[in-house]
Amino acid sequence: MCYIVPLYMCGIFAYTGRNGKDAAKVLLDGLVSLEYRGYDSAGIFTPESGAVKTPGAVLELKKKVPKGFKGKSGIAHLRWATHGEPTEINAHPHSDCEGEVWVAHNGIIENFKELKKKLSAKGHTFVSESDTEVLAHLIEEHLTILRRGSGVAKKDVFERAVLAALNEVRGTYGVAIQYKGEPEKLIAGRMGSPIVLGLGKKEHFIASDPSPILKHTKKVVFLNDGDVAVLTPKSHTIYKLSSELVNREPEELDWNAEEAQKGGYEHFMLKEVMEAPEVIENTLRGRVIAEKGLAKLGGLESVAKELEKIERIIIVACGTAYYAGLVGEYMLEEFAGIPVEVELGSEFRYRSPVLNQRTAVLAISQSGETADTLAAVREGKKKGALTLGIVNAVGSTIARETDAGVYNHAGPEISVVSTKALLSQLTALALLTMFLGRQRKMSAKIGKDIARELRNLPEKLEKILAWRAEVEKLAKKYAGTRDFMFIGRKYNYPIAFEGALKLKECSYVHAEGCGAGELKHGHLAMIFEDFPTVALVTKDSVYEKVFSNIQQVKARKGPVIAVATEGDEEIAKLADDVFYVPKTLEMLSPILNVVPLQLFAYYFARDKGLNVDRPRNLAKSVTVE
Ligand code: AGP
Ligand code: GLU
Repeated sequence: MCYIVPLYMCGIFAYTGRNGKDAAKVLLDGLVSLEYRGYDSAGIFTPESGAVKTPGAVLELKKKVPKGFKGKSGIAHLRWATHGEPTEINAHPHSDCEGEVWVAHNGIIENFKELKKKLSAKGHTFVSESDTEVLAHLIEEHLTILRRGSGVAKKDVFERAVLAALNEVRGTYGVAIQYKGEPEKLIAGRMGSPIVLGLGKKEHFIASDPSPILKHTKKVVFLNDGDVAVLTPKSHTIYKLSSELVNREPEELDWNAEEAQKGGYEHFMLKEVMEAPEVIENTLRGRVIAEKGLAKLGGLESVAKELEKIERIIIVACGTAYYAGLVGEYMLEEFAGIPVEVELGSEFRYRSPVLNQRTAVLAISQSGETADTLAAVREGKKKGALTLGIVNAVGSTIARETDAGVYNHAGPEISVVSTKALLSQLTALALLTMFLGRQRKMSAKIGKDIARELRNLPEKLEKILAWRAEVEKLAKKYAGTRDFMFIGRKYNYPIAFEGALKLKECSYVHAEGCGAGELKHGHLAMIFEDFPTVALVTKDSVYEKVFSNIQQVKARKGPVIAVATEGDEEIAKLADDVFYVPKTLEMLSPILNVVPLQLFAYYFARDKGLNVDRPRNLAKSVTVE
């Protein structure tokens, strides 16, 4: 079975045992196995020695853990921040008021603000900005209620309090919970973020994936969404949120740690392409008011009034993020009526751009550390522009230096080759278009149409990913090809360039993007039978134009691979190969159309035996000029 690690990667690891192992050592070693998942801070808790937390790497945590720190059980965490900067106080595990209940969490508690308000009114005091902390206090509140003569047996109050608390939570969680009142007991919960149990001899484990468990036991149970597991050194019991007992068959894994880290996929790139549906769901989470056709972007609330007055937007970005920006230009101009220019970070910083208080500079960056994009932000600030960010890494430099922004919530992207981040960037740009458009002339109807179709995207992406074997076959058919052209128009013009970039950086062959309408201005001279063209020709306002461009290519004996809308039989008569995608709104079509191109680049490079996740000469975050 291919264990598909959906989103929130980061990492949880918890242990309880009666075989003389030192929990602190087990947990810290386990965090090292989880480091590949990307994180910004780390922490550990044992009932015997308390909690130690730190921003930065596991190595920092190890340095901070005092001599003599020990335990027979405990929980540990690698955080990928979504709410609250990556600081010591925001690191996990988080506790309740009394330091009795401790929680390590992956995911987003969507209703944390209302829970925090309710719990504060009941006297709970919060110390961090993290959404996770509310869960510790919520469990504490239910423990207090249950202890007040509820008739629940003392041995059951902890799990009953956890079940009651998790039933109040909206959002996603993979969670490990410990209570000092029952130090040998661990509770795990899963809703949208993966959790796996390790079943050892007189020891049990909770982890985000099997990698930290495998050195102790190969016997595991993958929890399903809605499962809550209670572990002691000698037992494990699984409930549904309804408290009904449930049986989950254990599996014997024959993976090594490396295979576990990729969730059973051969490369992180493929795993991250396969996360596309969850990425859209998490980027949208809590941000769409569908019935009103509105986008709710908390990170822009502080500048909402200023944004009403913005008369121009300059998008600055590099690489894949730049191509996302080009799509954003079409969205914002067509649906928000705001003039937009898109600039390469590396160019903008050396030009003499004309900016003023009515200009917004919008930086798009997965890492939030790209030097050229950061320099462009600083240039914008210097000239008095409002600076915004669409950034994945919380607390990164670009996120901190822009006046406001939207976090992607796409989870860590491990492969150097950016895939899921692009889908999240395009989704965030659609939300920004709704936000700015509805401040201006965008009708509620248009807003509702966009909101509705955004919600349909995950299912449509699942459908595309289910057909990935067709792309794998195409990559084999064109194996050995040295040159590719990618063409598209309007919303898919940038995606032609992104498809070329993916293929280039993964497989080192020559690939170039070209506006379909530009072919006749020179590019067509290159076309011949050994120079295939990938054409983005889905049903939209420029379909006929691209169709005729494909005819021009075919007239020069150039093979054509088409990405087309399912049901389009005409294109199948013209193109040599067709990969069909579901119909969607033209402005959202890049989110679907880019996935076959990502898959093609992946399979083409994999079949060349290349290191897909770490292409030669490239870095994940280009923090130098
Ligand atoms: C994408 O596949 C590349 N690795 C690269 O172009 C990347 O998109 C670019 O360096 C920008 O990175 P950022 O989004 O972290 O700023
Ligand atoms: N949303 C939680 C936080 O920001 C957990 C993030 C994670 O998955 O690591 O602290």
